[in-house]
Amino acid sequence: MSNSEQPLILRPADPDAPFVRDENKLNPRLMEVRTALVEAVAAVFREKKITREEYEHFRDVLRALQELKAAEGFFDIWLDQMTDETTAEEWEGTSTNPEGPFYVPGMPLLEPVGPGASYVLPMRPAEPGRPLLVEGQVRSLDGTALAWAEVETWQCADTGVYSMLGMDDQPDGNLRGRFRTDGDGRFEFRTIKPVPYMSPGIPQIMLDLWDGLGKAHYRPGHLHFKVRHEDIADNGRFMTQMYFEGDPYLVADPGENARSSLAVSTRRRADPADLAARGLEGHSFFLSAHFDMVIATMPAGAVGAE
Ligand SMILES: [Fe+2]
Repeated sequence: MSNSEQPLILRPADPDAPFVRDENKLNPRLMEVRTALVEAVAAVFREKKITREEYEHFRDVLRALQELKAAEGFFDIWLDQMTDETTAEEWEGTSTNPEGPFYVPGMPLLEPVGPGASYVLPMRPAEPGRPLLVEGQVRSLDGTALAWAEVETWQCADTGVYSMLGMDDQPDGNLRGRFRTDGDGRFEFRTIKPVPYMSPGIPQIMLDLWDGLGKAHYRPGHLHFKVRHEDIADNGRFMTQMYFEGDPYLVADPGENARSSLAVSTRRRADPADLAARGLEGHSFFLSAHFDMVIATMPAGAVGAE
């Protein structure tokens, strides 16, 4: 008889023998945090008189999230920022924002276009949307430029759909790209202004939850950024999202990631020479925005110190 045919045994060898806990596996920190969390949640249940029905609705939401494989994202909305010092009011650098579900790794490194080492995100010949020029600098909290940092950005098309989701006919890699800052940490690239969008496949129970909380179904328009540089404190990598001042969805982001500190103003530029210099002769104007990313770096000497 092979092992796989052994009957399943789930009982202790001796059901009457005393339980002896393994002192080596006890985790005082876990016990303390668990007690504190349960007490805090219990206090809310008592104070707000949470009903059985309300609790069961919460479980239905969790079940819907489980089916979406998005349960951790749901908790991240509230809890992730509590462990992230860059989201604190007093943080002087740029706040981080999560990667989100539409990141696709392995996009090619772009070649600069024209003078000034400017980049253009891959796009179709007549990509719909308002042309947008983004320029800025990547630097450390003390102002040191992060030279030759790799900046990766991705965003939705003017339909609100990201490329490579298999949902439309955008070519692979559309509006996604990687490039390098110059020796002063500066960068400039052209794209289109991203529009607010709704994630596909959000179940009704979540839409109802957002309605109940006064949240929109659309995220405010944003560009995702991932910066890589060996001096960056968090494993050489920094992630955020850039938003736009005046976006009607900025204060109602269902993802709760949008922050006014990450919102930029845009300037309307209609000078024919400016347009021509960027290959935008067919357009009457483009928008330009300035976005610096100020990132915590490793203390001097932390790398390679013997
Ligand atoms: Fe996004």
